[in-house]
Amino acid sequence: MAAPAPLRLGVNIDHVATVRNARGGDTPDPVRAALLAAQAGADGITAHLREDRRHITDADIERLATGLSVPLNLEMAATGEMLGIALRHRPHAACIVPEKREERTTEGGIDAAGQHNRLAPMVRELGAARIRVSLFIEPDPRQVSAAVSLGAPVVELHTGRYAELSGAAQVAELRRLSDAAALAAKNGIEVHMGHGLTFDNVAPIAAIPQVRELNIGHFLIGEAIFVGLEASVRRMKDLMEAARG
Ligand code: PXP
Repeated sequence: MAAPAPLRLGVNIDHVATVRNARGGDTPDPVRAALLAAQAGADGITAHLREDRRHITDADIERLATGLSVPLNLEMAATGEMLGIALRHRPHAACIVPEKREERTTEGGIDAAGQHNRLAPMVRELGAARIRVSLFIEPDPRQVSAAVSLGAPVVELHTGRYAELSGAAQVAELRRLSDAAALAAKNGIEVHMGHGLTFDNVAPIAAIPQVRELNIGHFLIGEAIFVGLEASVRRMKDLMEAARG
């Protein structure tokens, strides 16, 4: 049997900015973290410019857009403001996520099926600017079908529920992820996954053959406090490669 395609790691550096912003100064610098993560084997850098700018700022995006040797994946809400920012900076990829001001982190996938008409022009405009559009969705066949009809080249399947569950419920959620990945790939959509992944739960996700990229942030940045960012990123890459077989 052919070996599965390589699996990329996108390191989300938002929470380096969270720590910086706790004091309002310049350190720790998320761009420095991005460069170090790339040096340690990250295949890409992900950053979420939230509408309330609670971690990553416009100035961070400006520096990330010009200063990286690996692709930048900009996570953004489906708003006119964010579309303008993406078109100005032209990151390699833009991942459209739902956003609620009161949430602590992204709480679920975007309703691509329910918001089809609002998302369609955005997917078109980003695509026309050669930005690879990804829709962050739940592992639900309805949402995958909506991504197909929107013409999105990539979906990122939300692994947050998988990460929170255990036992048989987690196995069932893994099945949903793997079925959604197979459906997306069958329709020519590249599959990414992310949210809540850790050293302990990454292997079954990394072993899903259709998945091509994982985006991981909070755990890696937290672990960096104990072992350093390079060691944290390297270990995650090693675990992903081992699971890939
Ligand atoms: N993917 C998306 C679309 C996200 O919104 C986030 C969180 O910002 C992540 C991946 C990374 O999640 P975590 O920080 O839990 O690893």
